[in-house]
Amino acid sequence: MKKLAILASGSGSNAENIANYFKGKGIAEITLILSNNPNAYVLERAKKLGIPSFVFTKKEMNETEALLDAIKKSGAEWIILAGFLLKVPQNLLEAFDGKIVNIHPALLPKFGGKGMYGERVHQAVIESGETESGITIHYVNEHYDEGAIIFQAKCPVLKEDTADDVATKVHALEYEYFPKVIEELLLNDK
Ligand code: GRF
Repeated sequence: MKKLAILASGSGSNAENIANYFKGKGIAEITLILSNNPNAYVLERAKKLGIPSFVFTKKEMNETEALLDAIKKSGAEWIILAGFLLKVPQNLLEAFDGKIVNIHPALLPKFGGKGMYGERVHQAVIESGETESGITIHYVNEHYDEGAIIFQAKCPVLKEDTADDVATKVHALEYEYFPKVIEELLLNDK
């Protein structure tokens, strides 16, 4: 059974989806949900799911070992970023080399980078006149959204689509594929 820690800054619907996907499958368990936002709804979801949580500040993340210590104490072997808006610090990248995975709500390398999250991404896709969007699941390195791509899935973008319409289609792809891609990674992680 592999142990996963999930980092999230906001609602946490992907975190909940992942936890529910693996529940009772004997493949993985979420041992800790961490957030840099004390008001993040993901913390409510963690409570409901009976998963321990850990709140930290950006300063603690970047200037102390508190975050790394909490993740290590949880026994997590992989770190999943599910709507985490900060850059992962060097100590985590080193300790979990090749085992930190992120999901981005667009087809990288386009529409990625610092500040590209949530509705802004979908608005940018629409304003660029793209006819498709989708998700990118990738390894995390020291730059925003630039690690090696693991998986992508696409959805159409229609002329009349609003950012909300695109978000709905992209979220559907996230919920369908993110747990399955993580499962594949874990099954190949001998
Ligand atoms: C998702 O769109 C994900 O692709 C992006 O942040 C959003 C997180 O949503 N990284 P939620 O917090 O999982 O509901």
